[in-house]
Amino acid sequence: MSTLFTEASLSAPSGRLTLRNRTFLAPMCMYSVDARDGVPTPWHLVHLGARAAGGFGMVIAEATAVVPEGRISPEDLGLWNDEQVEAFKPITAFIKSQGAAAGVQLAHAGGKASTYGWIPRWHSQGLSGSVPVDDGGWVTVAPSVTTVHGLAESHELTVEEIRESVQAWAAAARRADEAGFDFIQLHAAHGYLIHQFLSPLTNTRTDEYGGSYEGRTRYVREVAEAVRAAWPAEKPLGIRFSGSDWVEGGWTVEETARLAVELRAAGVSVFDVSSAGIGAYHGPTGPGYQIALADHVKRALVADAAERGAAYDSFVTTVGMITTAQQAEQVLVNGQADGVSVARAALKEPNWPALAERSLGGSVEDSPFAQQYWRAHW
Ligand SMILES: Cc1cc2nc3c(=O)[nH]c(=O)nc-3n(C[C@H](O)[C@H](O)[C@H](O)COP(=O)(O)O)c2cc1C
Repeated sequence: MSTLFTEASLSAPSGRLTLRNRTFLAPMCMYSVDARDGVPTPWHLVHLGARAAGGFGMVIAEATAVVPEGRISPEDLGLWNDEQVEAFKPITAFIKSQGAAAGVQLAHAGGKASTYGWIPRWHSQGLSGSVPVDDGGWVTVAPSVTTVHGLAESHELTVEEIRESVQAWAAAARRADEAGFDFIQLHAAHGYLIHQFLSPLTNTRTDEYGGSYEGRTRYVREVAEAVRAAWPAEKPLGIRFSGSDWVEGGWTVEETARLAVELRAAGVSVFDVSSAGIGAYHGPTGPGYQIALADHVKRALVADAAERGAAYDSFVTTVGMITTAQQAEQVLVNGQADGVSVARAALKEPNWPALAERSLGGSVEDSPFAQQYWRAHW
C-alpha cells in the first residue's frame, strides 16, 4: 500500500476535509478568459475537470484575482463579482462529482499584474511584459515603487488602500464558498502582492507594513485573519509560499518557517512551498528541487506542535519537478512533506494520479480513475 494513495485529512477550526489521496493539482494560469471579465469558460471546466477525472485528490484552480487590478494578465480568472461565482458553480460541482476536492488559489499580482501572460499568441506578436493602459492594461499597485521586475511603474499603496485590499481578499473568500469550493490557497508566492510585502527587495516601506519581519508580514497576517473569518470554519485554509528568494538580502526559508508557525496559530493549516519570483533570481533546479524548503517548513510546524504538547495537524505539500510516482512516494515516506503538488507533468498527463497509483502497485478497484476510463487499466 503506497503512502501517496492513502487518504489525507486537512484540518479546519471546526471540521476536516478528507482527500482520497495526497496528490494536489498545482494552480496553473490558463490565460483563457477571452472576454477579459474574470469569468471562467468551458476551457477551465475541461482543464480542471479532466484532472479531477484523472484522479487528483485536490484540484486547485489557477491564481484567481480578488480584484480586477490583481490579475496577472487581462485573461485571468477572478472572484470579485456574482457572475464569476455562478460560472464557477458547475466547475466545482464537476470536480467534486469525480471524487476530488475543489480548491481555488486566491491571488493578487500587485506590481506584477497587467502583463501579457505566458501565451504563445502574445509572444508570437512580439508582445510581452506590461500591457499598456490603451491595450486593456492598468496601473498596478505594490507595497513600494521598484524596478526589480522590469515592468511598468506601480502605484505605491497607501495604508487606506492596503486596508481595503485586505477586505477584498475576505470578500473573494466568501464568494469562493458560495461558488462551491472546499479549499482556499492564498497565493503568497512567486513575487506577487503578498510576496512583494514579505521580501525586503520589494518592500522598502517605512510605515507599519514594512521594515522589520513584523512589518513585512503584517499584510499577509491581516489577509489570513480576514479570510479565515470570512471562510466557513469547517473548511481548511492554505497558503503557498515562496520559501526563498534565493538571493542575499531577500526573503528566507527561516522567515518562511517562522511565518508558517504564526499563520498556523491563526487558522491556516495547509502549506505549499514553492520558491522565487522576486526579480530574476533563481535557485537550484532539477528533480524535486524545492523539497528541502518544504521539509524545513514541516519541521518547524512539527516542532511547534510538540512544544504546545499538541499532535502535528498541519499539512505540507512540496512542489517542483515532481514527475514520477516513485519520487512522490519517496518524499512522503521520508516524511519531508505530507502531499505533493504536480503542475507541468499533469499538463502532459491529466491522468497522472491514476497512472501513479497503478505504478505503485495499487489495485484497479482502488484506482482514482474515472469509472468511464477503467478499461484503460488493462
Ligand atoms: C502553465 C503554468 C501556469 C502556472 N500558474 C500558476 C499559478 O496560477 N499560481 C501559482 O502559484 N503557480 C503557477 N504556476 C507554477 C506551478 O504551480 C508550479 O509551482 C511549477 O510549475 C513547478 O511545478 P512543476 O515542476 O510540477 O511544474 C504555473 C505553472 C505553469 C506551468
